[in-house]
Amino acid sequence: MRATIPAGLDRKEAEVYERLDPDRLPKHIAIIMDGNGRWARRRHLPRVAGHRAGVAAVRSTVETAARIHIPALTLYAFSEENWKRRPKTEVSFLMNLLSRYLKQEVPTLNQNNIRLQYIGRQHELPEQVQERMQWAQEATAGNTGMILTLALNYSARSEMVDAFRSMIDAAARNGGVQHLEIDEEAISRHLYTKHLPDPDLVVRTSGEMRLSNFLLWQLAYAEIYVTSTLWPEFRGVHLLEGIAEYQKRERRYGGLSTDHTQPAAAARS
Ligand code: IPE
Ligand code: IPE
Ligand code: MG
Repeated sequence: MRATIPAGLDRKEAEVYERLDPDRLPKHIAIIMDGNGRWARRRHLPRVAGHRAGVAAVRSTVETAARIHIPALTLYAFSEENWKRRPKTEVSFLMNLLSRYLKQEVPTLNQNNIRLQYIGRQHELPEQVQERMQWAQEATAGNTGMILTLALNYSARSEMVDAFRSMIDAAARNGGVQHLEIDEEAISRHLYTKHLPDPDLVVRTSGEMRLSNFLLWQLAYAEIYVTSTLWPEFRGVHLLEGIAEYQKRERRYGGLSTDHTQPAAAARS
């Protein structure tokens, strides 16, 4: 029997949710929010109008994920490489937008019992943005539902550099490099995501087929869902469609199909 439809889903979301197996929802979903600039260009608007319109997509996606009880959602909001963007006004617009988003969304995050945290080199962000980030994190710290992680000034390669440095520092504190312990579990414990399970599903909008330096270690066995929808048009219903696609996949982790007398499950559906 199907579980009941969670409260708060709209009709279209409920239709897709009914096709899902509530016992096999991903525990962690990561999203590369892409296509804001193209959305704006198609409307003959400045690129920043696309970023502004992307906020509604964030709100809808976050609320739907929380309503269906996804334990963790991670959104790629600003990469280390995004500082390269010119004119610089696009970057300052994004920083202001982020500050405003944090201020205005905290009540909604609290209503939905969502705990906010960040990954990325926070200390390199403008001070006012850092203060606002800290404020929002503290304001939601008591929540016990979904963990929403914003990747800000994030780079997966920098994260690995920071992890290796942190391992060496820890060894030095524990009596020297002879105490350096390197295995997969130890590396995971020194990544920014140490408190999170690896994502089961990574979504990228706007049709681009690349990871753009996002969670390279953690996505080793994630299922990849690319949709042509541009980020400002993405809504909770599209997230549910991504989860429906995820549930059709068979994750093999290098092993064999559970029914290995048959061709791979992906070919069956
Ligand atoms: C994603 O949209 C938002 C950020 C990277 C901050 P883009 O700004 O990359 O949009 P496109 O790829 O140019 O369409
Ligand atoms: C990835 O998008 C970064 C974020 C979504 C924040 P980009 O638009 O920056 O990636 P590329 O440049 O197309 O790889
Ligand atoms: Mg882009």
